[in-house]
Formats: sequence, C-alpha cells, structure tokens
Amino acid sequence: SDIEKGTYPHFMLKEIDEQPFVIRKIIQEYQDENDNIKLDADVRAAMKACDRIYIIAAGTSYHAGLLGKQFIEKLANIPVEVHVASEFSYNMPLLSENPLFVFISQSGETADSRSVLVQTKELGHPALTVTNVPGSTLSREADYTLHLHAGPEIAVASTKAYTAQMAVLAILAVDTARAKGIELDFDPMQELGIVANTMEALADQKEKFEDLAREYLQTTRNCFFIGRGTDYYVGLEGSLKLKEISYIQAEGFAGGELKHGTIALIEEGTPVIALATQENVNYSIRGNVQEVEARGANSMIISMKGLDKEGDAFVIPQVHELLTPLVSVLPMQLISYYAALHRDCDVDKPRNLAKSVTVE
Ligand code: G6P
Repeated sequence: SDIEKGTYPHFMLKEIDEQPFVIRKIIQEYQDENDNIKLDADVRAAMKACDRIYIIAAGTSYHAGLLGKQFIEKLANIPVEVHVASEFSYNMPLLSENPLFVFISQSGETADSRSVLVQTKELGHPALTVTNVPGSTLSREADYTLHLHAGPEIAVASTKAYTAQMAVLAILAVDTARAKGIELDFDPMQELGIVANTMEALADQKEKFEDLAREYLQTTRNCFFIGRGTDYYVGLEGSLKLKEISYIQAEGFAGGELKHGTIALIEEGTPVIALATQENVNYSIRGNVQEVEARGANSMIISMKGLDKEGDAFVIPQVHELLTPLVSVLPMQLISYYAALHRDCDVDKPRNLAKSVTVE
C-alpha cells in the first residue's frame, strides 16, 4: 500500500535504501554485550562438526550462496558446494560423510528448495535455513534457523535480502572460524559497519546511476556484465536484476570466458558493465574491457577506490576486500531500477514473476 511505501515511488527503491539499516540491525542482532558474536550454540556445533557444506538456493539467494561459499571457505576452511535447488533435487551429487545443508531463502517458501530439504532429511542430514521469515516452511522443517532481520521485502526483485544474506553468512563464517580456533585478522562487525556507511554514500548518489542507466540502457536490447572472482558473482546478480525488471536480455560472464564464445555477441554499441573491485584481477578485467571496446562495445567500469583508473564510470569507496559484493551490488540494483523506470516497466511487479515460487 501507499502507506508502507511512504514517499517512495516503488518498494524496490525503498528496499535498496533500507540496506544500510538492515546491515546495522544485523550487527546489533548478532552481537552480545561483550562484542562477541551471538549465535545459537547448536548452529555453531553443526558448523564445526560437518566436513562439507551444501548450500541450496534459487534465484538471488543462489547468488548470495556463491559469495557465502567464498566467506566460509576462506575464513572457516570448510569446503562448500553451492547448488541450484531445482537441479539438486533430481541430480544429487555424491555427498561427503558429514554434510551440513544450508538453505538460503528470503521467503523460506521456495518449493524447489523445500523438495531438497525433504530428501536430505530422509537421508538423516542436518539442515540450517537462512531466511527472512522465521516460522516459514523451510525454517520450521530444518533443524536450525538464522534470521536475516531485513524486514518485509515486497518488490519481486530481491535487494536487501541479498545483502542481508551475505552479511549473515560472513558472520557465520567468522563465528565458525573462531569456534575452530582459526586466527583471523578480520573484525566482521567493524567491517560491516563500514559497509553500512558506504551503502548509504552510494544510495545518496542515485542521480549518477540514473544517468548511467539513461546513457547505456535506454534503448538497448541486451547488456553484458563481466567480472572475475567475486565480481563475476555480483555480475550474475546484476544481470538477474536487470533482466527481471527491465526485460533487457542480460547475461553475466566471467571475464576470462569472453574469448571462448561470448565475445562473438559484442556489436557496435553493446553495453558491457564491468566490475573491478578485486586487486588480483584488476589488470585482467581491464584487459577484457579493452577487448570488448575494440569490438565496438559501450562499456563502463565500476571500480573500487584504490583500484580505480581515470575514465571509470563510478568509483566505490573502499571496504574490506571480502565484503566488496555487499556494496558493489548497489550500483547494479540502482542501474537496473532506473533502466526499468525509463522503459516504463512495472518495477515492483514484473511480468511472469512471483515473489515466492511455491510450485516446483
Ligand atoms: C523467486 C523470486 C526471486 C527469488 C527466488 C528465490 O523467483 O522472484 O527474486 O530470488 O524466488 O526466493 P527465495 O525466497 O527462496 O529466496
């Protein structure tokens, strides 16, 4: 309703703006009086006991899972597989001896994910649901729940749930590392506080993203997102946002894969959005941008302070390298929002899509 939207024209824009507050809320909820991580002891024990984690999710939650894998593997040293729920349910991979299943779902109602949960429970494996709706089906049927605290997400295109999922997974990864006695040079709450401030700074510069959307996406029929490493995963989420609400055919690609096929699609004027927030791939992703430019692409680079070069379309203030996806997705969300708006699309209720899909 209009009351809930307040002064915002769309829920999506409101929810994009809520992200810094959600991150601060998560910091609050997951911290005790002594500044230690506050987490259900059973969750901690399950994380410690498993030899491999299987993340199961769909859509945007799957993209958050790809980044959750990075956090858990890099910080807590546990191997993680990430699976699309609908694929996993009829093509189960070989499982490790002591698997822990982690279901990531904003709604907690996605039927594809639930069908995997039913199967893995039958096999007797423990399950943790990371959701925005405690008490939802996936939350009730799993052994454990972690709450996203993002508040109701109304727009079909998920925004604040995605960043909340990553924040909670990062906290979980640090907690597990500490429980395993791994020494970390990473204070998640402090770094997430910086993330929240940076999100606010980005949300305050909406005109820049509106201009980029107008310049690059007003009339195009397609758009490519490229990146390497975690930037690639954020590109996948960027392309999903854009296609969901603007109906522009959008695809995310790993920079190094371009030459193996995708570059054939580049024509005069094809928009290419490149992310450059990771030091180890900054040089190579910029090389990819030159390759597409040489074939006529209309490219823009969204980079991180410290790695930026003259001519970058937008430079994001620096945050901890592990947490860059939480901020670099905001330009993707805002550019997609304005592209949809300029093309007169129904931003909050795109055609053919549902907020939660309760059929397989
Ligand atoms: C639907 C929504 C997507 C969402 C996906 C998974 O397809 O349109 O925005 O990412 O379901 O939803 P979940 O509630 O499980 O995160």
